[in-house]
Amino acid sequence: MPQYQIGLSPKLSGEVGVSTAKNAVLPILAAALLTQEEVLLHQMPKLTDVDNMLSILRSCGAEVKQEGRDAVIHARWIASPDENGLERAMRASVLILGPLVARAGECSLSMPGGCAIGQRPIDLHLKGMQRLGAKVETQGGMVHVTGELRGANIYLDFPSVGATENLVMAASLARGVTRIENAAKEPEIADLCGFLTAMGARIAGAGTANIIVEGVERLHGAEYTPIPDRIEAGTLACAAALTEGSVLLEGARTDHMRALLFKLTESGVICQEDARGLRLRGKARHPMEARTLSYPGFPTDMQAPFMVVATQTHGLSVFLETIFENRFMHVVELKRLGARIRVEGQLALIEGGRPLNGAHVTATDLRAAAALMLAGLVSQGQTLVSDPAGHLMRGYERLEEKLARLGADAVKLPQAARTN
Ligand code: UD1
Repeated sequence: MPQYQIGLSPKLSGEVGVSTAKNAVLPILAAALLTQEEVLLHQMPKLTDVDNMLSILRSCGAEVKQEGRDAVIHARWIASPDENGLERAMRASVLILGPLVARAGECSLSMPGGCAIGQRPIDLHLKGMQRLGAKVETQGGMVHVTGELRGANIYLDFPSVGATENLVMAASLARGVTRIENAAKEPEIADLCGFLTAMGARIAGAGTANIIVEGVERLHGAEYTPIPDRIEAGTLACAAALTEGSVLLEGARTDHMRALLFKLTESGVICQEDARGLRLRGKARHPMEARTLSYPGFPTDMQAPFMVVATQTHGLSVFLETIFENRFMHVVELKRLGARIRVEGQLALIEGGRPLNGAHVTATDLRAAAALMLAGLVSQGQTLVSDPAGHLMRGYERLEEKLARLGADAVKLPQAARTN
């Protein structure tokens, strides 16, 4: 089981590079199934979610080669993946649905899994596919989607990131024009559309709530570098803000991070954009109010790391989680370190200024894992973060090493030294 040991750390300082965004890479990998030609992707982050997605592509029939940080995907023919449990392990596996149906006319897959942060149904994906003319059957934990797709008007009841991505990919090869209203506007969706456009897709309105896709007969191969990870950058920014650091996050796209930079600035951190990325200086001192929303609102993926920052400000912070129904699991673990947090339904009240003390805590989901590492930086003594499900490695590329490069006392324990 992965375990991380974090000690009370000095003010972080120095420079660290931001990795490529997991949430951009996963849909782009799925989109590689839309063409029988070769796709070349650069700057792949070393994450288990990426490895799992590559395995899923292989089990769909694609040839996958990795050279350094490049991935070459060649899907000469494709079919539904073998039943190997990977789809159940990773929610983003549902993203192969749109490409498979659009190109092969059918897809069977087990209902996807993911973090235990809520029910996370896929009804919006399936409803959208039905609007595009597909037939959907669910049976015994499996979903079977078949049919020839034709353009349609689709209204999403909620701007789901994954559903928007699946439907844009499906619509790219559908006959006729598709209009997706109330689409999600996340930068990762605009990036997926950038990749699809490089493959020959015709898409207007990417990054807005109204996306129009004119289906084409076939897509061709492409070469692409996905965007930097705004959530990883935000997590490192929280580490700087907690320790009164002075750091440069090289390559960070501040235009994708507005909401969280406003929050940090309001709290007293100096955030400056320059040609190399994002510079942060100072400490978060003032309490915060944050309501998680779809982009460009405050990201739900930043809620747990920001809550740790809030524990070290002076006063009462209020966080409202509106995207997922069960995303306060880190609170119990933060309380083990001495944080004072009260949860009322989707609302969390954080009493700042309480000293934290190192303890043995357990990561319950991906962002909770990162949040506990951050808490360790400002806890007296040592904090041991156990991550039995390997959540951290799913979405952060060696976070402990990046923190250590900035001067933090953070290590991943070697197998032999691990306790249990
Ligand atoms: C993506 C991100 C994840 C982020 C989330 C919200 C990836 C790989 N993951 O997840 O990091 O936390 O966006 O920003 O990009 N919902 C439904 N029915 C559906 C689909 C979604 O009810 O068919 C609900 C979900 O249960 C959840 C909410 O909508 O409560 C948001 O989900 P969605 O935007 O789809 O998130 P993901 O694409 O799963």
